[in-house]
Amino acid sequence: MFEDKHITLTVSGSVAAYKAALLARDLQRAGAEVRVALTAGAAQFVTAETFAALTKAPVLTDETWWRANGQIDHIELADWTDLAIAAPASANLMAQLANGLADDAASATWLATAAPKVVVPAMNTHMWQAPATQRNRQQLVSDGVHVLTPATGQLAEGYAGQGRFLEPAEIVAQIGQLGLFVPQTLAGKHVIVTAGGTRERLDPVRFLTNDSSGKMGYAVATAARQAGADVTLITAPTKLSSPAGVTVVPIESTTDLAQAVLSRFPQADALVMAAAVADFQPEVVADQKIKKTTDNDEFILKLKKTPDILKEVATIKRPKQVTVGFAAETQNLLVNGAKKLHDKSLDLLAANDVSRSDIGFNGDDNQVTFIMADGVTDQTPKTSKTLIAQALIDRVAQLLATK
Ligand code: PMT
Repeated sequence: MFEDKHITLTVSGSVAAYKAALLARDLQRAGAEVRVALTAGAAQFVTAETFAALTKAPVLTDETWWRANGQIDHIELADWTDLAIAAPASANLMAQLANGLADDAASATWLATAAPKVVVPAMNTHMWQAPATQRNRQQLVSDGVHVLTPATGQLAEGYAGQGRFLEPAEIVAQIGQLGLFVPQTLAGKHVIVTAGGTRERLDPVRFLTNDSSGKMGYAVATAARQAGADVTLITAPTKLSSPAGVTVVPIESTTDLAQAVLSRFPQADALVMAAAVADFQPEVVADQKIKKTTDNDEFILKLKKTPDILKEVATIKRPKQVTVGFAAETQNLLVNGAKKLHDKSLDLLAANDVSRSDIGFNGDDNQVTFIMADGVTDQTPKTSKTLIAQALIDRVAQLLATK
């Protein structure tokens, strides 16, 4: 994730400072070369020797700053940095960084670096909620710094609240999802992504739906955003949080989805339909809750076909626009996938086998076979939906570049 990247980890005074050692190790495992700047407060909790041993590099502290070694240490470290992470960031460090103070080695390095910056707060819940800290958080965000949200749970003080340091693995995952080093292959492009399972109402309290969690579509929207696209995510109800920097359009039924897609598609460069769309909907939607009656042992529900959105999109598609579909298949993946690609005039189709419980609907992993319009196919390994989405977005960028 961070192959060959130079990461400077700024560690400040917090009970969680020892976890920064685990974070340094996890960042190294993700491919980064790590160097550490320690504040005087941090040195009360952990020693520079711990980090020097872990990173196999000198640690910048107030004691080692301005040695007569012929170099300006904070500038040398700032220039070396590809990504600056302040973790744990105490309330005091956040105040320093938000106000541009450079009165110690760690804050001077931070101020001097032009690299992307991430702050991972850790503090007492009252300090986190204090208006001054929230002002500083807002200032950092306005300055383009990514501030992760601290966890809620048991604090060192013995009571629960928000302010806990995130677990190192979670920090690495969240920073990875920021897509800081992803090539901007979709800069200037508008991409529409659909996600989740549509709901077809029977009455005010009942609906027909499917197992889609929305994870695949949200991963595609995130990957497109990371590649620099302006992204509109049209989503059926899910339990997921909105991806950062994406315009979210909530919908419920296939009819809503069709309207939302068809009205926006003319302004888009690409459309990726990852939503699991109902093929049928109740012919009549009852105004009131359907009652069970004593004289009826069965209830017959009549369904009618929904609009095929991708087929309607095909009728208004311009030559330079790219359309991508998914095919959820339980048998004959390639044959059925290729037929859908052809019937819906797609540039690319991702076929997934939804009869398997370890991929497809709901889980975090998937495996797809990409089918191109010229019939070429390419099967991915089983891997995370995040990586499948990135592979799909790479293909969308290539298609747009060649149209
Ligand atoms: O959401 P997750 O839990 O992460 O699961 C991911 C997924 C399995 C839902 C996803 O990977 C997937 O396969 N999505 C497409 C599901 C689907 O509706 O497949 P389909 O084979 O029925 O439809 C083919 C294509 O036509 C799809 O792109 C679909 O969005 C589109 N379609 C379908 C019906 C319809 N009326 N209009 C459409 O445009």
